[in-house]
Amino acid sequence: MSKEKIGVIGSGLIGRSYTMLFISAGYNVTLYDILAEQTHAAKKDIWEQLKVLEKQGLLRGSLTPEKQFELITTTESLEECVHGAFFVQECVPERLEIKRNVWTKVDKIIDKSVIMSSSTSALLPSAISEGLENKNRFIVSHPTNPPFYAPATEVVPASWTDADVKERTIALLKEVGQVPVVLNKEIKGFVLNRIQYSIMGECYRLIRDGIVSPQDVDTIMSQGLGMRYAFMGPWETGYLNANGMIHYGEAYSDMILGIQQDFGPPERMEGPTLEYINESMRKLAGPEESIPKRRQWRDRRLTALAKLKKDMDKA
Ligand code: NAI
Repeated sequence: MSKEKIGVIGSGLIGRSYTMLFISAGYNVTLYDILAEQTHAAKKDIWEQLKVLEKQGLLRGSLTPEKQFELITTTESLEECVHGAFFVQECVPERLEIKRNVWTKVDKIIDKSVIMSSSTSALLPSAISEGLENKNRFIVSHPTNPPFYAPATEVVPASWTDADVKERTIALLKEVGQVPVVLNKEIKGFVLNRIQYSIMGECYRLIRDGIVSPQDVDTIMSQGLGMRYAFMGPWETGYLNANGMIHYGEAYSDMILGIQQDFGPPERMEGPTLEYINESMRKLAGPEESIPKRRQWRDRRLTALAKLKKDMDKA
């Protein structure tokens, strides 16, 4: 028996991923896009991805690809997309005016109990929802890309978001196999990108100052920190690297502070340093024309890692 309806607005990369996650748990999804041809391409792509996931043993839920696929309806009407849905996931481009425009329309036609969830990577939920009548039903559910292989999803309420919106969003994400992380309040860049950009900032300074090459920075991550970060974060790493965090603090806090105080201020990435990094990445990953091929290389590795983690968690 299929479950309630979810409306997905925008059928690009993330709209497709969310559709696949929701159907994996048996939800009926109505997919809308401003370009009708996009929803048709999305359906074709989703079908191919479902077959690949089945082959890899990474299909989520208990339904066959055929049964999951039957749960998707496409529409050329925004109204039809959201009508009768208990949850609406918006996946339109990352521009405040586009998101506000879409949500203003949806706000006028939905029931007061509907959850309005945005995939935004960096726009604050308060900025998108401040003008809405039902702004208390608004929340951000920001996935990591690609969501099927990297399940952490940031859940960011605005100060006016109802508690039940947060709770139901968390429950839904868990049900479809994601790993939600809730922010207690909104902050620029959320958490994932704040961490990512602090790493990038320091890596950039190390290259600019001639300490290390761009390839070697990437080696430190892929063959060093990244090896354990695929399984645990910096806190568990610290905890295990000493006899617990208190011991870690006694042993290393002064040293860490001294190094952190040595970091420079933020800097715009541009000019000769950025060109140097680009040149190095061309040598490492191939010229720009071959990026799609290198993405396939990356996705094969991510798939294998996701499978390894799944198998090890089962063991
Ligand atoms: P995309 O460009 O692949 O897809 C956007 C889709 O929205 C397109 O199909 C477009 O035709 C459609 N669209 C444009 N205006 C519309 C409107 N007014 N009504 C309905 N549909 C409309 O973009 P992508 O990558 O899927 O991103 C969507 C959102 O997800 C953005 O907010 C982005 O920041 C966020 N996000 C993206 C990630 C990524 O790695 N691509 C990761 C996590 C979040």
